[in-house]
Amino acid sequence: MVPETDFIVVGSGIAGLRAGLELARAGAGVTVLTKDRREESNTEYAQGGIAVALADTDEVSLHEEDTTSAGAGLCDERAVEVLVEEGRWYIRELIEWGAEFDREGGRLLFTREAAHSRPRILHAHGDATGREIVRALLARAGAERKISFLAHAETESLIVQDGRAVGVRYLDPLVRAPRTLLARGVVLASGGAGALYLHTTNPAVATGDGMAMAFDAGAELADMEFVQFHPTALNLEGAPRFLLSEALRGEGGVLRNAAGKRFMPRYHDAAELAPRDIVTRSIVAEMERTATRTVFLDMTAFDAAYLRRRFPKIYSTCLGFGLDLARDPVPVSPAAHYIMGGVRTDLEGRTSLPGLYAAGEVACTGVHGANRLASNSLLEGLVFGARAGRAAAQDLAVPHAAAVGTGATDDGGPGATAREDLRRMSAAADAVRKRVRRLMWERVGILRSRASLTRALSEFEQIARAPLRTAPRNFLTVAALIARAALWREESRGAHFRVDFPARDDGRWRVHSIIQKDAGISSAETVEFAATVRQ
Ligand code: SIN
Repeated sequence: MVPETDFIVVGSGIAGLRAGLELARAGAGVTVLTKDRREESNTEYAQGGIAVALADTDEVSLHEEDTTSAGAGLCDERAVEVLVEEGRWYIRELIEWGAEFDREGGRLLFTREAAHSRPRILHAHGDATGREIVRALLARAGAERKISFLAHAETESLIVQDGRAVGVRYLDPLVRAPRTLLARGVVLASGGAGALYLHTTNPAVATGDGMAMAFDAGAELADMEFVQFHPTALNLEGAPRFLLSEALRGEGGVLRNAAGKRFMPRYHDAAELAPRDIVTRSIVAEMERTATRTVFLDMTAFDAAYLRRRFPKIYSTCLGFGLDLARDPVPVSPAAHYIMGGVRTDLEGRTSLPGLYAAGEVACTGVHGANRLASNSLLEGLVFGARAGRAAAQDLAVPHAAAVGTGATDDGGPGATAREDLRRMSAAADAVRKRVRRLMWERVGILRSRASLTRALSEFEQIARAPLRTAPRNFLTVAALIARAALWREESRGAHFRVDFPARDDGRWRVHSIIQKDAGISSAETVEFAATVRQ
């Protein structure tokens, strides 16, 4: 007998948890599958905060304007309106549910980040905003009898029957054997793909599996070429690329080159608070100009007591690597951070495949356009996670698929020989991932060209000829999708920069890229982009 649940949510970050809560509110049973611990997601690592127009000095229309202008002509206007307007309501609800954002004298504190015209970033415990949000949502979900979690269960593929997503295949957490779970609908909230790059601020789980699964199942993906690189990740031998939040620059931190000279004013009027893609490319240019591999984030104008209070996690992490933020400029360089593209959805999280919904970083409503405004992603997960959960709940009366025809081949787990094969294949998978990460960084990274992208694609094809298990194949699929879309877009816009087409070309390219299995790449108009998803 193949196990069933009402709905499957893949991923336990802000979008998945919020979708699950909405489904449970509608009376549906929910199984949340998560690849690692239930706390492990990109959300957990979000430092700077969550943008919302709730400060006295702010207005929803300003948040809308800043989001649209960062998006470089590709934002879906309706999606942005939903984000900034409904975001205020969902944040208040989150506070009612126990999320504790930082306050002074009882009033919420808002900080400023790049390309925001007003201070509008809420934060928690200084620089542990994501962790606080996950804590509050998990506590809420834990009190819901309708929601159950299956941790360390790696989802590998979607099951499609008669043109509808009816379940998933995943690896059993204990014996690593394939398992099948059927449902009335599936919500993908599996996060982004930063771990496809050699240098990333993302945790290792962010490998874009949701995008690969949706693509293989026939759903449309959009805007895969738009990958955002965060300008300031720790760049120290032997240390991970730990994120040094934009909020540090928002509070007055400056960037200096290896000679100790501040350089951002030479590149942009807004200096360190220029849009993220501009700061990133300026750092790359400055490193090249000075023949160095790093620049420095200087917070030494601030005293240790303030930095320890305002940025406790960053302060203590740097200290762990022998750097005192109050005394030492910290070596930084850019790292892959966020993907604006993903599984194409309408404003309710519906994908082009019936029964499949998506929300958060795995999805693309067009809300971020070609470049996401800092701290809009947690808000997106909250708002569109709830919307996707609500839309999926309308499928509560859909009957479960018959197990026959789902290809269910569940067994007890591998014997000794199979275990040895698995060990060998997993070593091969590690080698594949390593090679793909380097190719992504060097050829599909911050600066791209026809030559670099073509070379990456031909290497991906070569790698794909080897027999691979599903997980590394998914990894390779997403890498190739990003490279294909980046090759297709012959202009520079937002986070996508082609050295061979350095200008933005609105006449030809003010369109979204759509990519679908067996159908190549096509384009979609920006007007009502989300509203035109066809199932
Ligand atoms: C940061 O804290 O700099 C990251 C915030 C974001 O990427 O939205």
